[in-house]
Amino acid sequence: MIQKDVDLQPFNTMTIAARAKYFCAATTREELREALAFAREQQLPILPLGGGSNIVLTGDFPGLALHVGLQGLDFEPQSDGVRMRAAAGENWHQLVMRSVEMGHGGLENLALIPGNIGAAPIQNIGAYGVELKDTFEELTAMEVATGRLVTFTAEDCRFAYRDSVFKNTEKDRYIICEVVLKLSASWQPQVAYPALQQHFAQASQEVDALTPADVARAVIGIRNSKLPNPVEIPNAGSFFKNPVVDASLYSRLKEQNPQLVAFAAGEHWKLAAGWLIDQAGWRGFQKDGVGVHDRQALVLVNPGHRCGSQVVALAQDIALDIQQKFGVTLEPEPRFYP
Ligand code: FAD
Ligand code: EPU
Repeated sequence: MIQKDVDLQPFNTMTIAARAKYFCAATTREELREALAFAREQQLPILPLGGGSNIVLTGDFPGLALHVGLQGLDFEPQSDGVRMRAAAGENWHQLVMRSVEMGHGGLENLALIPGNIGAAPIQNIGAYGVELKDTFEELTAMEVATGRLVTFTAEDCRFAYRDSVFKNTEKDRYIICEVVLKLSASWQPQVAYPALQQHFAQASQEVDALTPADVARAVIGIRNSKLPNPVEIPNAGSFFKNPVVDASLYSRLKEQNPQLVAFAAGEHWKLAAGWLIDQAGWRGFQKDGVGVHDRQALVLVNPGHRCGSQVVALAQDIALDIQQKFGVTLEPEPRFYP
């Protein structure tokens, strides 16, 4: 059912109040197809919504906000692992924990990432040394222009750090309906990420003896110690991507800042934007109801439930300061609408 003039505040974890001209919650592919047909007839732009944990609403949306609530989860055992087929509206963290409880490894590093499965391929979600692409097999999406179902393999998706074809050539052209993941029976714990390494060293736990549940527990503990729970403190996770810079800029910065946190990325270097923002003095900053989280400077918070333009103004001030202090350009991670 299409509703008119709907408040989107309950549908984004930044709790920004903004209205959608039209809104539809689709729980079946047929409802999705009908909603797309309506948008086509009315020539409306579409805002697909999952958990709303990676968007910033900068004003009212003059089109159709389409909540993708398709449900269904299926585990298909195979000789070399398990195939998981999950509908777009299933909750990501619950899927991770289901797989961990069943003893399957592969998703445990991605525990506690908010949001739904349908959004996971958009930016190739990643955490603690693992990305969606590591277990991704294929997805089914509905073409916005026709309602036709199309399959995308991992190669088609062109996954990269916080990136996929759905943010580039295929932007706004598809609604993801279902994702298939393959968890391999020959699982090995991925615990090279510094925070995880530290955790298991401190706990004197042998890496070889770890189970997927041990890793999930560690990831949940680390995340809870620094990332704000959006239910308590409105936020959209990391507000900026970690910038990838060339070797000459990296060398210059490292010379000036011996403590600089950076990871080699081929011939380039990925810098910890949170470290830069922290060093620039922004961690814990609060003004007029918006601010920077006091335990993770990469996360902007909106405890005052302020409007998107206030959040964006703070982000611009931070990005300008980082540009001036370090010569590094920060790009936002969440998508801004409209
Ligand atoms: P939404 O915010 O609803 O949508 C995100 C984008 O995807 C929008 O452009 C939307 O239009 C589009 N979209 C949503 N569903 C569909 C669909 N079915 N078809 C087509 N397009 C769709 N991300 C990480 O990668 N790693 C992290 O560790 C991480 N930690 C986070 C921690 C916190 C506290 C928060 C608040 C966010 C974090 N995020 C992280 C970001 C966010 O959780 C992920 O990007 C997640 O995949 C977003 O899911 P969602 O359902 O909330 O998407
Ligand atoms: N750091 C600081 N001060 C801060 C924040 C970070 O010094 O205020 C330092 C940390 O001490 C650490 C380094 O920066 O040495 C990296 O910090 P952290 O491990 O917290 O990770 P991050 O690079 O800030 C990225 C992702 C997160 C993901 C974590 C774990 C991006 C943009 N963010 O954050 O993803 O959960 O790594 O893998 O890549 C998200 O995308 O929304 C998100 C939360």
